[in-house]
Amino acid sequence: MRPSIPLLLSSLLMTSAANADELRERANAMFKPIPDKVTEVRGQKVSDDQAMLGHKLWFDPRLSSSHVISCNTCHNLSIGGSDNVPTSIGHGWQKGPRNSPTVLNAVFNAAQFWDGRAKDLQEQAKGPVQASVEMNSTPERVVSTLQSIPEYAAEFKKAFPNDKEPVSFDNMAYALEAFEVSLTTPNSPFDRFLKGEDGALDDKQKQGLALFMDAGCSSCHNGVNLGGQGYFPFGVIKKPGAEVLPTGDKGRFAVTNTASDEYVFRAAPLRNVALTPPYFHSGEVWELEQAVAIMGDSQLGRKLDKDEVSAITAFLHSVTGEQPQVAYPVLPASTANTPKPE
Ligand code: HEM
Ligand code: HEM
Repeated sequence: MRPSIPLLLSSLLMTSAANADELRERANAMFKPIPDKVTEVRGQKVSDDQAMLGHKLWFDPRLSSSHVISCNTCHNLSIGGSDNVPTSIGHGWQKGPRNSPTVLNAVFNAAQFWDGRAKDLQEQAKGPVQASVEMNSTPERVVSTLQSIPEYAAEFKKAFPNDKEPVSFDNMAYALEAFEVSLTTPNSPFDRFLKGEDGALDDKQKQGLALFMDAGCSSCHNGVNLGGQGYFPFGVIKKPGAEVLPTGDKGRFAVTNTASDEYVFRAAPLRNVALTPPYFHSGEVWELEQAVAIMGDSQLGRKLDKDEVSAITAFLHSVTGEQPQVAYPVLPASTANTPKPE
């Protein structure tokens, strides 16, 4: 198959280092590399004790009423911080309504969830613990579970030394947030290109990056996370079919109750997107190429040809960064007072 005219043009343009500089300059005006380390939450420094406690809570299935499901069940840090199934499986093998987004780099999103209904990671963490289709617990049950385990009581005291009642639902959520800020993926080939390394992207990825900006993808997917900042109708130009955009989930409408927010979703953050199929909030699209083509069609009214889809997809593979190396923690044992699984 012959390469398309736009691709031919951009490959001609991409031949010299000077053009790599020009591409980098344009890209740096749109995107930002992932910082090496995040150590603050909303301007407040996270302590090691808080982050270490959050690390244990992240893997502790006793935050769920069944004692089977932990945060890591649906945001598996071994496979890109997601679960790689269409919609998550939670309490009692129930299927939830939406695909699990990655927690990697979630700290950089302006708000959490596909519809942005949680303003930060602390508020977010209280949701899954209580959701009947996820962990099916209650704040009271979580607090009595944690209080029944002396090691946890001591660790909460150390992590929140100024609190009268250190073991609280709020502090559980804050500790989880303190851990989650460490789940970032710096030094992707794309980041290294932004910082000046010409050879970090191959020619096709450079073409894909140029096209991602020229076609208008970056008008919604920009900043450090290539998304995660603003809200847009899924189907600005053309609504995808109900298999991709199920009619029952009206997105941000459920948050704002405003008619113009029907089928509006947060522009998905695209960091590590190659690791987190299937795609979209419905989790109905398995191939990244197909997701790219759907976006062209639905958001830009542009039928991207095969070479264009392939170049953009190659670029999207370059935003996979270094995955955080997280040890599986040894958790303190339950006692006779720990509520039994239900
Ligand atoms: C969304 C963290 C447990 C499934 C999220 C997000 C974060 C997160 C940070 C938002 C990411 C984003 O918007 O980009 C946590 C934590 C958990 C936990 C800290 C443990 C306390 C679970 C479990 C499941 C699950 C057990 C599956 C049963 C999901 C789904 C969403 C989500 C489906 C998207 C929901 C929506 O947008 O309405 N989680 N998660 N999570 N998580 Fe979890
Ligand atoms: C989702 C890529 C243009 C808004 C996505 C996803 C990909 C993607 C791969 C799925 C991410 C995931 O499931 O984790 C692209 C590409 C574009 C483009 C390659 C250009 C061809 C746009 C534009 C807008 C936009 C212009 C805004 C007008 C969104 C929204 C979602 C999304 C709202 C979430 C959809 C959902 O609810 O499932 N994009 N995008 N995108 N994008 Fe784009």
